[in-house]
Amino acid sequence: MYNKIQETVEFLKNKGFSQIDFGIILGTGLGNLVNIINVKVKIPYNEIPNFPVSTVSGHSGTLIYGELSGKMVLAMQGRFHYYEGWQMEEVTFPIRVMKYLGIENLIVSNASGGVNPKFKVGDIMIIKDHINMMPKHPLRGLNDERFGPRFLDMHEPYNLKMIESMEKIAKQKNIPVQKGIYLALQGPTFETPAEYKMVLLMGADTVGMSTVPEVIVAKHMGMQCFGLSVITDLGIEGHVEEVSHEAVQIAAKASEKKISILVETFILNW
Ligand code: HPA
Repeated sequence: MYNKIQETVEFLKNKGFSQIDFGIILGTGLGNLVNIINVKVKIPYNEIPNFPVSTVSGHSGTLIYGELSGKMVLAMQGRFHYYEGWQMEEVTFPIRVMKYLGIENLIVSNASGGVNPKFKVGDIMIIKDHINMMPKHPLRGLNDERFGPRFLDMHEPYNLKMIESMEKIAKQKNIPVQKGIYLALQGPTFETPAEYKMVLLMGADTVGMSTVPEVIVAKHMGMQCFGLSVITDLGIEGHVEEVSHEAVQIAAKASEKKISILVETFILNW
């Protein structure tokens, strides 16, 4: 794994990827954040050595290097999900590459189902914490000490200063945001009414199928993480409605502009 990472890092450095301030994972329907990036280099995943290639429609699979708000960013347009059949090492491989490219800050976005009865479709939630209910842990197996410690501290999974900064920006920009806990299940099924209830009883506000493995690995590599989730559907007791991938994409798209403004301003001020 270590050698594979170095090979990928060398490849990307030779393509011009350097001096990067932020890694960004553009989740479901949020891929258009890319429109505000001044793109310098763009490489499809299938041309990057050792990179997995994503399979879900709506996730295009391109690595982008460019400038956003005066800072250099590496953006993943399309991420790898455990439900696609990837191993956790593959799902989180790009995060390890980011760290070896010198990236210290990670911004992630995703779509999720809201179980907090105060949430509405289209709400944007700052992820303040997460619950890992994925069936396999990304740090399971032999620990490579070059990456990070065997027993990883997780007392601040999402950087508190980043959360505070985003809350201020949301106020300034008059964009309402929620703050809450994201619970990760493996999918690919959306939740049954009983499962939504379980998610709520476990103490979470939203549920989704991504993000947590990447954040765990970013923390393992000593990175600071910040996450936003768009609520694309609701699993509120007594009102669990039908949901589809298309409906999720449409709802995520409707919040895209607001998220772009938030992230753009966040990076400018960081
Ligand atoms: N569950 C899991 N993943 C999701 C959901 C959901 O309800 N909505 C969007 N992604």
